[in-house]
Amino acid sequence: MNHQVDNSFWFNCWENNNLGFNQETPNSTLINFFSTFSIPAKSCVFVPLCGKSIDMIWLLNQGLEIVGLELSPLAIQAFFEENNLLYSKRALGPFTLWEAKDRPITILEGDIFLLELKYLDELKLLKKSPFHFIYDRASLIALPSKIRAKYYKLYKTLMQSKSKALLLTIEYSSDNFEGPPFSVPEDEIISSLESEFNIHLLGKEKVKTLSPRFLESGLKEITQKAYRIEKC
Ligand SMILES: C[S@@+](CC[C@H](N)C(=O)[O-])C[C@H]1O[C@@H](n2cnc3c(N)ncnc32)[C@H](O)[C@@H]1O
Repeated sequence: MNHQVDNSFWFNCWENNNLGFNQETPNSTLINFFSTFSIPAKSCVFVPLCGKSIDMIWLLNQGLEIVGLELSPLAIQAFFEENNLLYSKRALGPFTLWEAKDRPITILEGDIFLLELKYLDELKLLKKSPFHFIYDRASLIALPSKIRAKYYKLYKTLMQSKSKALLLTIEYSSDNFEGPPFSVPEDEIISSLESEFNIHLLGKEKVKTLSPRFLESGLKEITQKAYRIEKC
């Protein structure tokens, strides 16, 4: 396990523009599978560890209301500025809330492990927490395994009956490569969530071109996996 991956690792990534994970265009798996979730318009979507993901704009354009959560203020500022969204900021418990002025999108700035339902209850977008839909790309793969155990517990807090999630992860096998991105085994997801959720593998695909960082460590194959998670 790479012990260097803590909050300061991520603050540094944003300060140094080390953003290999960021996508310029909306995620194709989200686009391909979203309609299969049958999420009604105006539903509230949670995007944990959202970075400045353009997928939030895609979800907004599907008529949904968005609550993101991200550690780095640089990421959130970049998100609002790059998408020409005006915003205001206010404190909410240990978080800073960034609220768009004329579109239904709010981003909580802070550590996800400080999130409690009482803060969500105060968000104007949420008529009643928890969320209808969670869009979770590249969050688990950002976290070392010990911390992931805590993250799975959040799913149990944030999802109630009829909540659904689209979870996107990667898997690889390597003794030399130190994440992030971390490999998130399918059996870990199942054993962590199966007591309260139905978990269905929607698809898997080999990453076509591996970056030099992977190849230099001898890593030859990475598989992307997409899961549908539904409260039992
Ligand atoms: C691999 S990136 C993925 C970003 C985004 N989901 C995307 O698809 O582009 C992980 C993000 O999680 C944020 N992050 C890491 N640990 C966090 C924590 N404990 N609480 C909130 N955000 C965190 C990082 O700053 C980074 O932006």
